[in-house]
Amino acid sequence: LRTKLSDFHKIEHLKNALLNAKNILVLTGAGISTSLGIPDFRSSKGFYSKMRTLGLDDPQDVFSLELFKRDPTTFYSIAHMILPPEHSFTPLHAFIKLLQDKGKLLRNYTQNIDNLEGNVGILPEKLVQCHGSFATASCVSCKYKIPGETLYPNLMNKKIAYCPFCENERKNLIRKFEKIEDEGLGNFGSKFETINSFGVMKPDITFFGENLPDRYHSTIKEDVKSCDLLITIGTSLKVAPVSEIVNRVPDHIPQILINRDPINHCEFDIELLGYCDQAITWLCGTQLDWEIKHKDYNKILNS
Ligand code: OAD
Repeated sequence: LRTKLSDFHKIEHLKNALLNAKNILVLTGAGISTSLGIPDFRSSKGFYSKMRTLGLDDPQDVFSLELFKRDPTTFYSIAHMILPPEHSFTPLHAFIKLLQDKGKLLRNYTQNIDNLEGNVGILPEKLVQCHGSFATASCVSCKYKIPGETLYPNLMNKKIAYCPFCENERKNLIRKFEKIEDEGLGNFGSKFETINSFGVMKPDITFFGENLPDRYHSTIKEDVKSCDLLITIGTSLKVAPVSEIVNRVPDHIPQILINRDPINHCEFDIELLGYCDQAITWLCGTQLDWEIKHKDYNKILNS
């Protein structure tokens, strides 16, 4: 654990910030799940580096709404790699739950779509899944919603799922365009591409080009004003608008960063640079006497 906490005074500052806070805003990203083997996005072995092998100019395009509408097969071919694991969570997730149990958690804003916050027991009202989740899926055309798990077999088998209510219209559209092309009355190349995604089911994760869920917008405005501590954990803070939360929190509110890599484009009062499970176990176990309820807690504490 490399830390900017060079002296006793700063450690005291960190402890007091956590002990005194009553409304903590916890902002999290993919780094809080990597200890379970779930890759983050932008690290050298992250998800986007794997995506380069698919031949995408920009690996973020796997989450591009425009590309999905042109050709949903790209997303369907990789979605099995990011399906959420059931039941598991990390010591860091257990720390957020501890803050909730202590009545200190104002809200956890997570950019993660793995829903491990649900596994650890973060209450829905305490959680904002800023980039949506796999919990539900919707038809891109008529917005018909289904439980996300219903889609898992298709995602696992890389087989595009279609909306039952749009089936007839989809078939009619395909017939119409095929007939026009057969009769040589026109080539509908680009229009045909839009038919590719007509009635396709898409998990309700937020793609680039889509708005964040309404819940994000309805809570963040007040939460940045009413929080008394901001803890940012396991994120590169590269994706707006979530990355802007750090600057929206007033200057007098203490801000802590816990991250493996430094973040140079934002200022924090205290930075704990290292693996977040270790950092939080050290903090809770040796400085605060707070026990994190996780099977690996003692092992990490004694390592
Ligand atoms: P990134 O991959 O951009 O950043 C992850 C950060 O976590 C990096 O700064 C790592 O240094 C750090 N990290 C990795 N493992 C860690 C560990 N064990 N302990 C502490 N830090 C660790 O991921 P995000 O910032 O979450 O969008 O990415 C934001 C969004 O970009 C995602 O929500 C995703 C992506 O496009 C969607 O899924 C729609």
